Amino acid sequence: MGKTGTTATVPGETASKWLRRWDAQQERYVADREERFAVLCDVVEAALVDVAEPVVLDLGCGPGSLAGRLHERIPAAKIIGIDADPLLLGLARGNYGDDITWVNADLNSPTWRQNVPATIHAAVSTTALHWLPVERLAELYRTLGGLMGPGGVFVDGDHMGVGTDPVSALAKTVGERRAARAGVLANEEWKPWWAALKADPALAEQVEAHEAWATEVSATRAADASTHSGTNALTVGEHSAMLTDAGFSSVAPVWQVGDDHVLVAVR
Ligand SMILES: C[S@@+](CC[C@H](N)C(=O)[O-])C[C@H]1O[C@@H](n2cnc3c(N)ncnc32)[C@H](O)[C@@H]1O
Repeated sequence: MGKTGTTATVPGETASKWLRRWDAQQERYVADREERFAVLCDVVEAALVDVAEPVVLDLGCGPGSLAGRLHERIPAAKIIGIDADPLLLGLARGNYGDDITWVNADLNSPTWRQNVPATIHAAVSTTALHWLPVERLAELYRTLGGLMGPGGVFVDGDHMGVGTDPVSALAKTVGERRAARAGVLANEEWKPWWAALKADPALAEQVEAHEAWATEVSATRAADASTHSGTNALTVGEHSAMLTDAGFSSVAPVWQVGDDHVLVAVR
């Protein structure tokens, strides 16, 4: 799984239609997604202000929403979007072309780093790393620590628990009320988005690649339970401790709504 450069590109107009629909669908679950993206870009831009040509990874980039926004904000940066799903990467390449480098790789496997430069300056991620089992995520954090020199930055936007009840339950309520106020609860859900995408005849080749990949993932998971992908349910404190163990010297959230955080770790 995860050969670089095997992703079939989606024609621009089709890719753009599905990306807009993806962004609306994702906002249903992350009401302040655009603000979260802006905060992530603020942090990367400020942290790398003295680096002439920074290398920035977007881990679990999906169809490229964050990588594209980072490219607009920091045009001199070499942005590398990494994802395991060839269909989502095809949408990313269709939207943003080769201004950004797209890598088809599984973050659960240490081999993903073979496709990135030996030194990076930042890594970002949104709504993706909760899928990694705890041990795999700890390994990923250690790898990132090893790829960055002092001053390198890791920035993750994701739902992260705040601890135990009753505060945890209150954070959930805050998130739900915020979503209602933002008016995103009527947005399309992820399941109909995927069903409609798979039914688009313009994407037949990419859907076939996606299904072949999904079958391979299911077989791997059946053979190796440690690759099982589910919500790892880590709290922001647990993420912070893991990042400290991985060699990051300063770790703290810089933004939060309910359990939605932007967590920053400086190497
Ligand atoms: C909810 S989507 C978020 C995509 C994008 N970051 C965004 O915010 O729009 C989660 C992404 O994580 C990717 N992903 C999950 N597990 C992965 C893994 N083990 N390796 C690489 N990508 C993974 C999925 O393929 C999917 O694109």
